[in-house]
Amino acid sequence: MNYDVIVLGGGPGGYLAAERAGHAGLSTLLIEKRALGGVCLNEGCIPSKALLYSAKLYDYARHGDAYGVTCGAVTYDHAKAVARKDKVVKTLVGGIRAQMKANHVTVAEGEGVITGRTADGITLTANGETYTGKHLILATGSLPVLPPIPGVREGYEAGFVLTNREILSLDHVPGELVIVGGGVIGLEMASYFNSVGSHVTVVEMLNKIAGPTDRDISAILQKNYEKKGVTFCLSAKVTGIGTDGVTYEADGKAHTIPADKVLLSIGRRPVTEGYGLETLGVHTERGAIVTGRDMQTSIPGVYAVGDVNGKSMLAHTAYREAEVAVNNILGKRDVMRYSAIPSVIYTNPEVGSVGETEETAAAKGLAFETVTLPMQYSGRYVAENEGGDGILKVLLDKKTRRLLGCHMICPTASEIIVSASIMVETQMRLSDLKELIFPHPTACEIIREGLFQLPDC
Ligand code: NAI
Repeated sequence: MNYDVIVLGGGPGGYLAAERAGHAGLSTLLIEKRALGGVCLNEGCIPSKALLYSAKLYDYARHGDAYGVTCGAVTYDHAKAVARKDKVVKTLVGGIRAQMKANHVTVAEGEGVITGRTADGITLTANGETYTGKHLILATGSLPVLPPIPGVREGYEAGFVLTNREILSLDHVPGELVIVGGGVIGLEMASYFNSVGSHVTVVEMLNKIAGPTDRDISAILQKNYEKKGVTFCLSAKVTGIGTDGVTYEADGKAHTIPADKVLLSIGRRPVTEGYGLETLGVHTERGAIVTGRDMQTSIPGVYAVGDVNGKSMLAHTAYREAEVAVNNILGKRDVMRYSAIPSVIYTNPEVGSVGETEETAAAKGLAFETVTLPMQYSGRYVAENEGGDGILKVLLDKKTRRLLGCHMICPTASEIIVSASIMVETQMRLSDLKELIFPHPTACEIIREGLFQLPDC
């Protein structure tokens, strides 16, 4: 069967590419071997948010005293929260299926393998059928990194070491949870399991948590979670995982922490093997498919979107990359920009970031000014956050007077950071930004307040 576009992989990059291509009238085939929605919908972004919301309600019920709310005995039913999470996932997977149908996309649920090229295009097989596509969009995603640390493989096979996939379906709350890697997945899972009763220890190789996040914000996040009872071991190198714990080296000494379960969250790697990519000779670098700004690979007509190109492993990046690929297939020139992609850590408080941090701006030799404000400048924040210690940080280019970056830690940072992303993306001048009107009272107003601390020129 011949198609204008074949999309390999049904995660956010793949399903949105298929949807947009189908909507534009291109005959489109989407091939997915596991579950529509990919990691994001089935074992990542969405299920973690469903669980974190249950934990947040539990926290609010237990800690409402300062707001005049005292509850009786509050209990938490992890199994019920997991069942609700599964229901949320099922609903949304059904939504994607409906979207594919509405946009006339054919879905092949099976393993797709690239077999070669003919005059008509690229050939693939799935479920015993052969398909040919004039264009191919690769959206095969990423897998968790399992490092060659002694005990990791054995622990994973025994169900003692978990990745994001298994931990989201754990049928109980472990007493001692050790999390290796204090990045986004590690911190979100630390937040959930801390709220619902585990003692959580985060072992992180670097001297700070939350990877590239602004250093002050990382420190505030760490302090918040230490207060809640999470233990952080920084500058710590894991050397082995035994049947009952994790051994790491720090300050030249070996330490062992007992664990009932270990979560491994030290990053993800693009999936480029096992589906015949080599038959096309697509160029890869450090395990990722190389793409241009039009999302095309080294092979004309073959595009790569989402985690597989290793550029920014975020679902919302994949969405936009998918649109860029489809627009170029349609002959509409479109390019991908990576400078204003917001990122969020869904802890409580949340962390929202966009653009340059002080570290990255300095490394690029940019001349910039920084304003840091406590979130207390927002009336709404004070009304709703007893004892909150959130901050906002904005970076302005000294010469162009345009916003370079914005970073914040507060409970609704995920929703607020969007406005800052628009400011960075559209490169509006400071004087114009100051004319924007924000609703009052909102936590978002803090951005306006931050901008007014800076002179127009
Ligand atoms: P990550 O890259 O965010 O964090 C990994 C952490 O592990 C880093 O801090 C790193 O220094 C540390 N590390 C590496 N090797 C280590 C070792 N041997 N011992 C101790 N620490 C070690 O990766 P993570 O959390 O696995 O997430 C994977 C991807 O999924 C990321 O690209 C992330 O952006 C994405 N994601 C995004 C979410 C969001 O947008 N809210 C939520 C979850 C995942």
